Amino acid sequence: MARPSLSAALPPRLSGQLDAWKEAAQVLTQVHDPKVLRALGPSGVRGLLLHRGHQGVPTHVQARHKAHFDWSYPHDQPEMADLYRRAKAGQWDGDDLPWQTDVDPLNPEVPLLPEDFVDMGAMTALGIHLDEREWRRFGHSIAAWMLSQFLHGEQGALFAAAQVTEAVQFFDGKLYGATQVVDEARHVEVFLRYLESKMERLYRVNDNLFVIIDSLMADGRWDMKFLGMQIMVEGLALGAFGTMYKVTREPLLRALLANVIQDEARHVHYGVVALRDHFRLELSEAERREREDWAFEVSLLMRNRFMAYEVYEEWFEGRMSRAQWRGFIQQSPGMEQFRTVMFSRLVPNLREIGLLTDRIKPAYEQAGLARYFDGQAADRLTGDGMLAELDRQRAQEVEGVATL
Ligand SMILES: [Fe+2]
Ligand SMILES: [Fe+2]
Repeated sequence: MARPSLSAALPPRLSGQLDAWKEAAQVLTQVHDPKVLRALGPSGVRGLLLHRGHQGVPTHVQARHKAHFDWSYPHDQPEMADLYRRAKAGQWDGDDLPWQTDVDPLNPEVPLLPEDFVDMGAMTALGIHLDEREWRRFGHSIAAWMLSQFLHGEQGALFAAAQVTEAVQFFDGKLYGATQVVDEARHVEVFLRYLESKMERLYRVNDNLFVIIDSLMADGRWDMKFLGMQIMVEGLALGAFGTMYKVTREPLLRALLANVIQDEARHVHYGVVALRDHFRLELSEAERREREDWAFEVSLLMRNRFMAYEVYEEWFEGRMSRAQWRGFIQQSPGMEQFRTVMFSRLVPNLREIGLLTDRIKPAYEQAGLARYFDGQAADRLTGDGMLAELDRQRAQEVEGVATL
C-alpha cells in the first residue's frame, strides 16, 4: 500500500503552506537564464515567500529609474504624437457610465460570468457538491476575485505609467504618457467603484501579480518597465478584459470594459512603438537576448500562476488539496478562453518588437503557443477593431448555442 504523503497527514492550512513554498521554489528554479533570475529573483522572494503584498497598508517598493529631461522639446516620434492626439480625443468620464444599473451578482438571469466558466462536472468528480445557490455565490467569488486583480493591476499600471513618462527618451512619448497616467487613474476609479458598490467585495493582490509589479518598480531600466508593463501586463489585461467583455451579460460591466479596452489598446500600441526600434537598433545582442528570455519567463508566470488561491482558501481549504484546485482552475473553460485571448494579443506584439526570434521560438512551441506566432500586433489594431472582433465572436457563439 502506498504511504500517505507528508502533506496529506498535515492539517490543511499547513499542507497548503508547504504546497505554496514548493510552488514558489518551482517558479524560481524554472528560470534558466541567470540574468533573468537576478532580475526576477528578489521580487519572487518578496512576493512568494515573504508575501509582501499581504502585509497590510502600506506596501513600500523601492523604485529606481532616471528621469530623462530634454530642454529642446523635439517633435521626435510622429506615431506617438498621433497616439497623443487620439488619447486626448478619446477621454471619457467614469461618472458617465450607467451606475444606476441594478447589479445583483447572484441573479441567474443576468450572470456576471457564464455558467460554464468553470466546470461543474470536474468539481463533482472531486466529491464536492454545491447546490444552486452555492454555485451562484461561488461564481460571485470568482468574478470578484478577477475584478480585484484587474484593480490591483491598474494600480501597478498607474505608477508604472508615471515612471515611464519620466524615463522615456521620446518627448512625444512624454506627452502621450501623461494621458496614459490619467487613463490608468480612471481605470482604478471605475474598477474600484464597481467592486465597492456592486460586488461589495475586494480580494487582496495575488502573489504572482505582486511579483511582476514589484520587479517592474524595482528595475531601473526604462525599457524593462516598458516591456513589463506596456507589453506583458497590459497584454494580459487586454486579454482578461476582452474575455470578460465577451462573456458577461451584465450591461454596466460591459460598458465599463468597452471603455477601458479602448484605452488599453492605445497603451499596448505605445509600448510596441517605443520598443520596436530600441530593441532592434540600440541594444547589443546579449541585452536583447536577456529581454527575450525575460519575456518568455514572465509569459509562463502569467499563464500558469493565476490560480485564484484566495477563492480556494475561502471555499475549499480542507475539502480538496491545492493541487486539486490548481487542476480544476487550469482546466476550467473560462480560464482556457482567457489564456487564448491573452496570448493571441501578447505573442504577436513580442514578435513585432523583435523578441520572438528563431532562438526562442522552440520554447514557445513547447509551451503550446506557436499558433499565435502570425497574429496581428497592437500597432495594427484599434480599440474599435478589438471590440468589433469580440462582438463577432460572441454573436457566433450565441448562434452556435441556438442551433444546437
Ligand atoms: Fe489600465
Ligand atoms: Fe493600461
